[in-house]
Amino acid sequence: MYAQMIKSEATQDDPEKLAAFQARIDAGDTIEPKDWMPEGYRKTLIRQIGQHAHSEIVGQLPEGNWITRAPTLERKTILLAKVQDEAGHGLYLYCAAETLGVSRDELTEMLLDGRMKYSSIFNYPTLTWADMGAVGWLVDGAAIMNQVPLQRTSYGPYARAMVRICKEESFHQRQGFDIMMKMANGTAAQRRMAQDALNRFWYPSLMMFGPSDQDSVHSAQSMKWRIKMNSNDELRQKFVDQTAPQAAFLGLTVPDPDLCWNEEKGGYDFSQPDWDEFFDVLRGNGPCNTERLAEQNRAWDEGKWVREGLMAHAAKKNAQPIAAE
Ligand code: 3HC
Repeated sequence: MYAQMIKSEATQDDPEKLAAFQARIDAGDTIEPKDWMPEGYRKTLIRQIGQHAHSEIVGQLPEGNWITRAPTLERKTILLAKVQDEAGHGLYLYCAAETLGVSRDELTEMLLDGRMKYSSIFNYPTLTWADMGAVGWLVDGAAIMNQVPLQRTSYGPYARAMVRICKEESFHQRQGFDIMMKMANGTAAQRRMAQDALNRFWYPSLMMFGPSDQDSVHSAQSMKWRIKMNSNDELRQKFVDQTAPQAAFLGLTVPDPDLCWNEEKGGYDFSQPDWDEFFDVLRGNGPCNTERLAEQNRAWDEGKWVREGLMAHAAKKNAQPIAAE
């Protein structure tokens, strides 16, 4: 739906303005909210930033699930901080999206009624404590691989939001790897849990980068506008190249019998995820889609009185005359 809207609106833009805009992008300029921009550029950013913000928010659920069951007080405080960071990332990103003329409420409503997506990865369950390690190591690792280049994306507010997000995601990735280290070097049962978590999160993590380049609808235009800096397959390859040696260091086995170093290409050969499963998750049929959306809707409904109270308080404060000095 978004793709059609973007295409039809993009064609309505003045060709001279479009050419000047593209020249700015090609020259490496940063586009700011008050600058002229093609309608398709604006809509693509709202879609991508909004989806990204929703991913941060929904992403709190699988990890929040383990806060009360963390094995030590230290692990609990670290996990609490991480989950709070994700909420903060959502807020920076909603703010960046708002500069494009969409409100946070509108974005939230589109998430809640299924018109907007969030990352496929958060439709998988976190079954054991080792999953907290795998999520930090693999999921945050994949997120960083995608988001570090986005610090140089063409839209200023998005690029600036990414700077702080990336710093925090790096900490998240390290804490996940640290959990995996502990488990992988622990008892036989802990090692089995670590391997099981890797087995379940490997392919869903590869899916986070989006469909293969030939099936990616938006990549060509988004890369032309520097909304995306790399193609989905490029980033997936970089992720595998970075992660496979880390798995070996942990003494764990990547669940892909075809994973092997290819000297000629200077990277690993690896098996693709099951793309039918990916598209099925996007259609709402993943193991946790229903549960995640129900939880977001519940939180939104139950928080209504808080939002209304805060808005009434703000309105009252704004209506008060400013006291004379
Ligand atoms: N999950 C859900 N939907 C996905 C997806 C995924 N992993 N990958 C692709 N899609 C969707 C796209 O949104 C698009 O659908 P739409 O037209 O209805 O919006 C369709 O699949 C086709 O994919 P494209 O490759 O054409 O889409 P994009 O060009 O938007 O590329 C992307 C997808 C690489 C995810 C890109 O949007 C992107 O780089 N987004 C910013 C990063 C982001 O959103 N990260 C979320 C990760 S989770 C996170 O950061 C939380 C942290 O705590 C770990």
